[in-house]
Amino acid sequence: MRTLITNIGELTTNDPSSADPTGALHDAAVLIDHGRIEWAGEADDVPTDAEGYQEVDAGGRAVIPGFVDSHSHIVFGGDRAEEFEARMAGQKYAAGGIRSTVAATRAASDDELRARVRGFLGEMLAQGTTTVEIKSGYGLDVDTEARLVRLAAEVTEEVTYLGAHVVPIEYADRSDEYVDLVVGEMLDACAPHSKWIDVFCETGAFTVPQARRVLEAGIARGLQPRVHASQLGPGDGVQLAIELGAASVDHGTYLTDADVTALAASDTVLTLLPGVEFSTRQPYPDARRLIDAGITVALACDTNPGSSFTSSMSFCIAVAVREMGMTTAEAIWAATAGGASALRRDDIGVIAPGKRADIVLLDAPTRVHLAYRPGVPLVKHVWKDGAQVR
Ligand code: NIG
Ligand code: FE
Repeated sequence: MRTLITNIGELTTNDPSSADPTGALHDAAVLIDHGRIEWAGEADDVPTDAEGYQEVDAGGRAVIPGFVDSHSHIVFGGDRAEEFEARMAGQKYAAGGIRSTVAATRAASDDELRARVRGFLGEMLAQGTTTVEIKSGYGLDVDTEARLVRLAAEVTEEVTYLGAHVVPIEYADRSDEYVDLVVGEMLDACAPHSKWIDVFCETGAFTVPQARRVLEAGIARGLQPRVHASQLGPGDGVQLAIELGAASVDHGTYLTDADVTALAASDTVLTLLPGVEFSTRQPYPDARRLIDAGITVALACDTNPGSSFTSSMSFCIAVAVREMGMTTAEAIWAATAGGASALRRDDIGVIAPGKRADIVLLDAPTRVHLAYRPGVPLVKHVWKDGAQVR
């Protein structure tokens, strides 16, 4: 099945072979063949043998790659709306809130969690997100963590084992014993369903030596590392992530100059999560400084019931542009190709021959409208693996 999308007013390809990193083209077309991009370029140059396809007229609108949301925690029970209200009234965000979601998640059945995950994925797809990473981390016992990674693996290949999210209440004051469990029986149960290992390396969660144990144990089992760090204050989590070759270090709200220098010299992506600063009233990171320093920046939603309950990549783009000094082009790159880099994927986030046909047609003439019209649903159509799903 072939599809030709024609009359594209502005096409963002992110094609790395183009001089402009976003590979922007005007009056463009894209040819899709069986789930992959066959060709993308100026409309006048559509291959002459492009026959037997279904034609979609974009009507001069903008087309971008599907968003790659490289950080989410969408397998959980309950919500924490009261905690959000209290924060808006001045209370501080703390890692401990995670424990109330643990209780609700343990109490939920597989079918309840499954319905929840599918609901979030549906709203994400409707907003242009075609790839989602999903973390465990609200089970914190062997059975529930194994359930969470198994349920996540039903819907994505980007599954992250986050048994080291916070120390559960039954291990209060015995955090090292909990880490023994995370790197032992819990890892055994979760590794077969997971691609990634993650740890929340922060005051109130896990120390740097504990985080090292967790990550090294995961790596020894064939999982790839990614790290939550410097969300609530500066620390050594970023340096640990770089040392262990993490694909991404996420949050980075409080980076030191040494962190910035080390990240710029590394292959580790920095994933910024503007929804967290928005909903915890923390300061926004200065993405301008980070990009100018040479760091590869991704943007993700961090959808979770505590620190960031948005699933809207366009909201995150708008905030990154308004509050963090990114240009719209940089923010859209970070939300597509940047997310792909944070997942070490080269088959998504780009509209170029051979790549997966994950494509979004915006109901807008240019991509700038994603930041310029915040809160407005601008996704007209979505193709996932070449199939039109919206
Ligand atoms: O990415 N930082 C740790 N984990 C989540 C928050 C989880 C929660 O508050 O429930 C995050 O912000
Ligand atoms: Fe997170």
